[in-house]
Amino acid sequence: MASTQGAQILVASNRGPVSYELGADGTLDARRGGGGLVSGLSAIGQDPDGASAVWVCAALGDGDREAVRRGVGEPGVRMLDIDPDVYADAYNGIANSVLWFVHHMLYQTPLEPVFGPEFRARWASYEAYNRAFAEALAAEAAPGAAVVVQDYHLALVPGMLRGLRVDLRIGHFSHTPWAPVDYFRMLPDDIAGQLLRGMLGADRLGFLTRRWADTFTACCEALVGGTAGTAIGVHGLGADAEFLRERSRRPDVEERLTALREQIGGPDRKVIVRVDRTELSKNIVRGLRAYELLLETRPEWHERVVHVAFAYPSRQDLAVYRDYTAEVSRVAEEINSRFGTATWTPVVLHVKDDFARSLAAYRLADVALVNPIRDGMNLVAKEVPVVSDEGCALVLSREAGAYEELGDDALVVNPYDVSATADALHAALVMGAGERAEHTKRLAAAATALPPAQWFLDQLNALRD
Ligand code: G6P
Repeated sequence: MASTQGAQILVASNRGPVSYELGADGTLDARRGGGGLVSGLSAIGQDPDGASAVWVCAALGDGDREAVRRGVGEPGVRMLDIDPDVYADAYNGIANSVLWFVHHMLYQTPLEPVFGPEFRARWASYEAYNRAFAEALAAEAAPGAAVVVQDYHLALVPGMLRGLRVDLRIGHFSHTPWAPVDYFRMLPDDIAGQLLRGMLGADRLGFLTRRWADTFTACCEALVGGTAGTAIGVHGLGADAEFLRERSRRPDVEERLTALREQIGGPDRKVIVRVDRTELSKNIVRGLRAYELLLETRPEWHERVVHVAFAYPSRQDLAVYRDYTAEVSRVAEEINSRFGTATWTPVVLHVKDDFARSLAAYRLADVALVNPIRDGMNLVAKEVPVVSDEGCALVLSREAGAYEELGDDALVVNPYDVSATADALHAALVMGAGERAEHTKRLAAAATALPPAQWFLDQLNALRD
């Protein structure tokens, strides 16, 4: 039933703009999230017509749940306190272990996936979690409101919400790649159909690149007879130049810059930077192997280059992520003990998330390594050229969404080809300063063509038209 009042613009995402940490003494500490989604959706408050807005998100942990119970929160943010077991099965068991794996093609298929009774039980939780969002949105939305649902966590929401509120304008945006038909069909037929139909409940679907929009359309044509009635748009989320340029010149970044320079040692050393969540799809281990191969085959780089690698913990509830995190550290140590000297540490690895230090690394990078197996966009590839002090060569995987916009000015690699990646690192390191500056300028222009706020407003306007 449509409420007579309520919000005119609604956003729904698993991770909201704020989350709470519960201290040992019972205090709640609010942390504002970073990242493209948050900065893009912050534009929700900048609607020129001043429409009222609500952001519906999940309580992610104990701190968030306690905040909901105490009625602590930010205006315009509605956190859903979903049963912790249901939430864990939906988020860890389905969204991150099945849907993320399918879209990023991460399964080692001789053993995985196995879709049996355990999967079915988790799927029921995923449905319940999506239903909780649909019901909250239905309750919060003004008549005719626009609702923009985010990502694979909430693929069933558009269809469910349509069933509750025919009056709403419903959009859904995918921040991931979309799997090709043959890979998507690994899912049980009924589940694959339910996912596609759930999304097609929206008036409009958005993707980061043409490639992901096309694979989605191909899946619909093969499995549910097409996309009739649903518009499909491409919105390549860009970097926020204004924010990044200002933020990267603040004193905390300068401090990190000094500390990093000390760790690198020697002003003449070249710096290869990577910054990622420790995420299976980011291909960090092959990146380290490529760097190792560079040192092995081109000893002229010994003592003259340092690989600054930031690999921030992610999804540590999943064993496969914990194992991968350990492997990243192990391989970095192996390279250091193989090549390191008293005066040179070839890999400087940091695993504690620190945005200011990431920006410092962006500033001093000579080369940025972005080599994911598959990635919806990859904002690091877009942020580095904007922040870089003296120009930075970009080694970029052709499987990152960013390749569509940045490929012409990057050294493009097949992410599985460690030899070719080592060669690309070498070519990036020897690139002349003039050429590097030219590429960086063009990369920065392409990377900032669609800033987050505009990205969001474009979708909203298209949805309301
Ligand atoms: C990707 C997804 C986002 C997600 C982010 C971090 O970028 O598209 O929806 O928020 O990863 O993952 P996490 O599981 O920590 O939310």
